[in-house]
Amino acid sequence: MARFLFVTDLDNTLVGDHTALQQLNRLLSEHRQTHQTKIVYSTGRSLTLYRQLTTEHTLLEPDVLIAGVGTEIYADGDTTPDRTWSEKLAIAWNREAIVAATAHFADLVPQPETEQSPFKVSFFLTEDAAIAVLPQIESLLQQQGLSIQLIYSSGKDLDILPSLANKGAAMSFVRQNFGIEASQTVVCGDSGNDIALFSVGEERGIIVGNAQPELLTWHRHHSSKRHYFAQSHYAAGILEGLHHFNFLP
Ligand code: GLC
Ligand code: MG
Repeated sequence: MARFLFVTDLDNTLVGDHTALQQLNRLLSEHRQTHQTKIVYSTGRSLTLYRQLTTEHTLLEPDVLIAGVGTEIYADGDTTPDRTWSEKLAIAWNREAIVAATAHFADLVPQPETEQSPFKVSFFLTEDAAIAVLPQIESLLQQQGLSIQLIYSSGKDLDILPSLANKGAAMSFVRQNFGIEASQTVVCGDSGNDIALFSVGEERGIIVGNAQPELLTWHRHHSSKRHYFAQSHYAAGILEGLHHFNFLP
């Protein structure tokens, strides 16, 4: 067994099955001690909502927390985001212009204040409305020369992010800082905002059995031996995938 970089989404990926989570926590924490394996959480949540989750579930302390769908990177329990990463995202990003342009769409319901941050503008949007509204927002913002990306997850969450920021780009930045090969890296997820984790490079990927339709559709169109669709759900699916890729015995 060798050191690896373990990157996982939280809601409905790591969290969802208490017993399996405890077992996975034990194995990962042993692996971190004996092999210097690194544990990274990659969540759509802000630091505030991440902290709330840690009061509800027993989570290991991660080596790095990627929050806000890749817009904030917190190393080792830090409370201010990595400056190098923030400076990269600030290039060609105009939050005020995005807020102004999106105000015209009645279907967009702003998410709570905690989930709005310097490099993330987030709304609730129903699946029915999304079909027509997403292309309209995208073309309006592009016409205005705003460099953005839209990420729609779980049939309800819309994140507008700088075009350089997503879970995949943030994971690559963290991976390179650790100096760990893509082939020794495994990413785990269940929904739309995790697609970037699977599509960025040569990392191994685990799609948990309870994944959302948007990730499953993406997987069908981009099937690869590097990606494993687990039968089991939540942390049990992660364990199944870690065995499949021989990261765990
Ligand atoms: C989390 C965040 C939310 C985001 C969603 C999908 O639920 O709190 O702001 O829209 O993930 O990325
Ligand atoms: Mg999730």
